Amino acid sequence: MVKIGFNSPVAQKDGKGALLVPEPDPEAAAVSGRENSTGRCLFTLLGLAFILSGLIIGGACLYRFIVPKNKVFHGRMQYLDSHILSDDPETEAPYSFATEDVQFLGDNGNVAFIDVPVPEFDDADPAVIIHDFELILTAYLDLKLDNCYVITLNTSVVMPPRNLLELFMRLATGDYLPQTYLVHEDLLVTERIDNVDQLGYFIYRLCSGKKTYRLQHRNMVKGIQKRSTENCHRIKHFANNFVVDSLICEPYGI
Ligand SMILES: *[C@@H]1O[C@H](CO)[C@@H](O)[C@H](O)[C@H]1NC(C)=O
Repeated sequence: MVKIGFNSPVAQKDGKGALLVPEPDPEAAAVSGRENSTGRCLFTLLGLAFILSGLIIGGACLYRFIVPKNKVFHGRMQYLDSHILSDDPETEAPYSFATEDVQFLGDNGNVAFIDVPVPEFDDADPAVIIHDFELILTAYLDLKLDNCYVITLNTSVVMPPRNLLELFMRLATGDYLPQTYLVHEDLLVTERIDNVDQLGYFIYRLCSGKKTYRLQHRNMVKGIQKRSTENCHRIKHFANNFVVDSLICEPYGI
């Protein structure tokens, strides 16, 4: 509780009143003055704290406003597949298209929920992909197989959430169609995951009741395994300025 001292205005204005009010002791007046300035200082600090907290809360609200909940961003990219290019160097390789819809979920939009439709003129699988930036996990639900694949989120393939949102806000305007390239990545099933409830709320929702497997980059897995004994599927997607062709291979017998 802040105690603020001030001189009675009655005592100053009215001479008669002044008689009723005891003459202020000069020493007491000095103390009261000191208290007065301390009070003013505290008030100023309180005011500053109030303004500061207002700015912080305002900033947080603005951030929530900028990360639109449940808004679906439609993105489309043109890409050149270097594999096609190397086959016939004489003719110009045609551009292909990658399309997907993205929603930013979670408390701070830290979960990107990506819908990859059935691709046109391509044998890649339709999929739902979750990038959980909080838990640093990526999950692919291959809609053709109805299987789930979980891997550590690879930050060299997936942009940070704020940058990803900015990219999709630009793509969603429809005026921005980047001409980009394709990156191939080889992912290998290493084991079956039985407890999908330990993969966070969003991946749990995606993968519960589905066969779920753990993935690793092939170059991170020790011991080279033959492709002929694997069942492979591809998902083409993007969460960066380029398109990624993820080849997911499952060795028989896992
Ligand atoms: C992340 O992706 C890059 C490019 O595909 C790859 O070279 C790298 O090994 C990956 N990192 C991990 C930890 O899997």
